[in-house]
Amino acid sequence: MLTKHLAQVLDTLNMKALLIWTVLLNIYKLLKTGDCTSTHDQVLSIHVTTHQQADIVRNISSQYETVLWSPASPEHIEADTEVHLFVPANNLGTVTDLLQTHHITHQVLLDNTEELIKMQTRNESSDPRSSVSYYERYHSLEDIYYWINRTAQEHPDMVKVILIGSSYEKRPLYVLKLSGRQERAEKRAMWIDCGIHAREWISPAFCLWFVQYSLNFYNLNNDITEMLNSMDIYVLPVMNPDGYKYTWTTNRMWRKNRSLSKESNCVGTDLNRNFDANWCTKGASNRPCDEIYCGQFPESEPEAEAVANFLRSHKDSVKLYLSIHSYGQMLLFPYSCSNEEVPNHAELFELVQEAAMKIRRYYRNNYKYGASAKTIYLAPGGSDDWAYNLGIHYSFTFELEDRGRYGFLLPPSFISKACNEALLALKSIALRVIQKTQPQP
Ligand code: ARG
Ligand code: ZN
Repeated sequence: MLTKHLAQVLDTLNMKALLIWTVLLNIYKLLKTGDCTSTHDQVLSIHVTTHQQADIVRNISSQYETVLWSPASPEHIEADTEVHLFVPANNLGTVTDLLQTHHITHQVLLDNTEELIKMQTRNESSDPRSSVSYYERYHSLEDIYYWINRTAQEHPDMVKVILIGSSYEKRPLYVLKLSGRQERAEKRAMWIDCGIHAREWISPAFCLWFVQYSLNFYNLNNDITEMLNSMDIYVLPVMNPDGYKYTWTTNRMWRKNRSLSKESNCVGTDLNRNFDANWCTKGASNRPCDEIYCGQFPESEPEAEAVANFLRSHKDSVKLYLSIHSYGQMLLFPYSCSNEEVPNHAELFELVQEAAMKIRRYYRNNYKYGASAKTIYLAPGGSDDWAYNLGIHYSFTFELEDRGRYGFLLPPSFISKACNEALLALKSIALRVIQKTQPQP
């Protein structure tokens, strides 16, 4: 009897020991292999410390089938850079082995990209129990076209739709013109564009968010009422419809537009390198296969040309230019295309500083701010620099949430916070610009 009981106790102890042993062994394996046994596509966060490591990571990102999330181009990978690299499952072993061989530390940032993409494309409107609003979801290009139409029809007194051109694949580029009901002589205007880069889905989501906020809170919220009474607001929800469509159907990681090149089989030009501001100098590429390809000549792309034409013909009224990107959490102003300071640098710095301070206070979130070239990297041919040189001296680029936790795959449940904080920054800057550009009586 006693021996039987003892045997049982020993048995359980053995089992426990075995269990602990297996767990430890697995943890050890996980640590040792850096989780390269995953069968999922992953996003790696790679800490590059030395110049040699920078060379190696640059080579990995260009030689293997990977997608660089951050920075936008391998040439920006230097010593002391945190690199975010999307690696498809079939290349994961090779890439992590290479990193280990060269003692480059890295972590898995995302191991469930397929799941996150599913979450971003799920259409919850079919579920009547869903309490999530239209604006807290991502929308396909078709949905957005439908939304543009419906919004204009429902608010005929405040919204006009303007066709400013068409994309390379001949999709229409619609701008919503929002106006308050107060007639004022010599009305000023501001411009907001979203979706220059296809994979930055939070950007079009912001444009939709902003429009519905403006229409719902006009005459209820003082700031938006003041804004709409003083300025017409032009909103281009998707500057790059072909690329955006492509991220929904074929490749979620696509950045450029979808124009074909004569010299190469590679597709697409980076629209934010295609404007006429130190076009195609350092920080852009003349190789069609690169993510920051500047195109054949400034405004070679119909999307960039359409925006430039519209702004040229409205340059006297447009006082404020704003371009919405992700990710990184930054409030930026010119120049991107040179390390020079713009004449009103101090003034622009104050505006973004104040806006970032408000985001910190209300949403406990940190945004970096400053002149773009010094805050991120040299990026010539950008729309903000071009608009600045056209004479729109309040010109900004926002990089919305996050800082890499989810990157381009920001789940829908984060849309409202990301948009609300950007909205706060936008209102802060716009109201200041309205004061500063008051017409002299
Ligand atoms: N991340 C964006 C890009 O690579 C913006 C960089 C800043 N450039 C600019 N023109 N604001 O295009
Ligand atoms: Zn971008």
